[in-house]
Amino acid sequence: MGRPLKFNIFRYNPEDPASVPHMESFHLEETDAMTLYIALNRIREEQDPTLMFDFMCRAGICGSCAMMINGRPDLACHTKTKALPAEINLMPLPVFKLIGDLSVDTGTWFRNMNERVRSYIHTDKVFDPNADEERMSNELADEIYELERCIECGCCVAACGKANMVPNFMGATAFNRVARFMMDPRDQRKTDDYFEIVATDDGIFGCLGLLGCEDVCPKDIPLQDQLGMLRRKMGWASVRHLFDKILPGGDAKKK
Ligand code: SF4
Ligand code: SF4
Ligand code: FES
Repeated sequence: MGRPLKFNIFRYNPEDPASVPHMESFHLEETDAMTLYIALNRIREEQDPTLMFDFMCRAGICGSCAMMINGRPDLACHTKTKALPAEINLMPLPVFKLIGDLSVDTGTWFRNMNERVRSYIHTDKVFDPNADEERMSNELADEIYELERCIECGCCVAACGKANMVPNFMGATAFNRVARFMMDPRDQRKTDDYFEIVATDDGIFGCLGLLGCEDVCPKDIPLQDQLGMLRRKMGWASVRHLFDKILPGGDAKKK
């Protein structure tokens, strides 16, 4: 006989004028290797078919099942109930627009973020489908791949005090995106181009540096390193811009 588990789940449907935000409790007996994903599906199938939550891959790849699990953002599909106490509180991720219950709209947020940081290779080279592929060292390809592993789950954004207070704050996932393109030799942008995008109070200069983002990232992306690198590069660029302003003949944009 497995542990009796109690799930306290946030319920609210913003589309329904009669709906009022509240917590609702459900009970299940724990089974071997039960994940929160399995538990939520059982609750929906056996107890309440109206329960809203997101999932797709069940394997920590699609990023859609992130939620607040006993106050901490994490993926439901890779969280075993055995790692949790018998009473489990589930809330939707903050910062993102609520769709209903545990389901939030991370897609719109991430699309806006990717547009904002212009998240694609910038080059004036004309694409030649017959040319050999451009080569880069295995070491550099590995470094870029390390940052590409972001699954856009939103856990780092939900854990970020600044993103919770300032709706326009870019968040660690955006800084990770910028770092990824800065590293890529195919991208012809210069430091000043990235400065325009990220060197603001809503960007890297507004980051509090307490690294809640890195603590909760389910893919263990080295966010601290990217934030540190970006802060250093943008800090030096802003000093250079200052000197260019006060010294005669200076023009930061040319560098
Ligand atoms: S270090 Fe910066 S991005 Fe990370 S949680 Fe803190 S404020 Fe947010
Ligand atoms: S950086 Fe980590 S926590 Fe943030 S969205 Fe990507 S995978 Fe999720
Ligand atoms: S269902 Fe895809 S990450 Fe959990």
